Amino acid sequence: MNAILGIESSCDDTSAAVIIDGVLRSNVIAGQKVHEAYGGVVPELASRAHQQNILPVVSEAIRQAGITKEQLTAIAYTRGPGLMGSLLVGTSFAKGMALGLGIPLIDVNHLQAHALAHFVKEEETDEVPEFPYMCLLVSGGNSQIILVRGADDMEIIGRTIDDAAGEAFDKCAKVMGLPYPGGPHIDRLAAEGNPDAFHFSKPHIEGLDYSFSGLKTSFLYTLRDNLRHDPDFIERRKADLAASLQRTIIEILLDKLKKAVALHKPRHLAIGGGVSANSGVRDAIAAFCRDRGIRAWIPKRSFTTDNAAMVAIAGAMRMRPGERGDLSLPPYARTEL
Ligand code: KG4
Repeated sequence: MNAILGIESSCDDTSAAVIIDGVLRSNVIAGQKVHEAYGGVVPELASRAHQQNILPVVSEAIRQAGITKEQLTAIAYTRGPGLMGSLLVGTSFAKGMALGLGIPLIDVNHLQAHALAHFVKEEETDEVPEFPYMCLLVSGGNSQIILVRGADDMEIIGRTIDDAAGEAFDKCAKVMGLPYPGGPHIDRLAAEGNPDAFHFSKPHIEGLDYSFSGLKTSFLYTLRDNLRHDPDFIERRKADLAASLQRTIIEILLDKLKKAVALHKPRHLAIGGGVSANSGVRDAIAAFCRDRGIRAWIPKRSFTTDNAAMVAIAGAMRMRPGERGDLSLPPYARTEL
């Protein structure tokens, strides 16, 4: 039996998952409500919550998988990028456990794990993408177009030069007075609104890179100008604001994706990261791929946000026979692929 435990603690979700002989047996995620009051993730509070959560989350993942910890054959953990304090918790825990059990330790790049999330099989017969494929990774910290040639061979061909798509959702939601994280609230409100009610500015930058900071400013100015003569403007128009914001973010994402697809002609296109849970993004990507005869890989919502199932599969795909892993590797807050 090949049983890999995945551990994820890069931001504000503590997660552990077990993959046995290629099939996911458990994926436990503990979110952190503590940040809601602050309108964003507070790094120090995140690492403290990881410390409280990690032991119960890992034990529960092993229990749900129906095995004992002694039956684990390897541990994969997120080494980075992410918040240093948060990463230290998962990294130290994974190292201690691998050392105690005498099993190999596999370090995983969080961004690679998002791009490989489509290889997580819940049933043996589940299909998986074919290399090479293109991946649009859109989360709270990243907006990237990635060429995925292999489990350990990826190239970022477009990236954000300022805010990530998730930040655009969250920051605009915050100025509307919506709770953190705002992305899911915008998604819900957008379903009731008119996507053409407002027009916000879109970036004009060359190449495949993204920019979302201009949109945020344009959104803020629209609110400010309208609130001057209508104090109830946000409340009255929140659905239209959300729908128009969501449409603009999707248009920005697709503009660059169109260029990337024309250049690289992928046969498969995957999306990943928290923003790939957005209903509008999912529908737009499905339609985009359908029109071009590209196979779309749209993850189940539980695999869009941070989770350890993707870390376990990335570890399984990267593991080399006989490799023991390196207990001295430190976590890294920032990195490329
Ligand atoms: O990948 P992720 O869990 O972690 C970070 O990189 O932080 O992504 C979180 C981001 C947040 O910005 C959140 O608002 C966004 O994903 N998000 C959504 C939706 N669900 C989560 N954005 C838009 N629509 C959603 N349904």
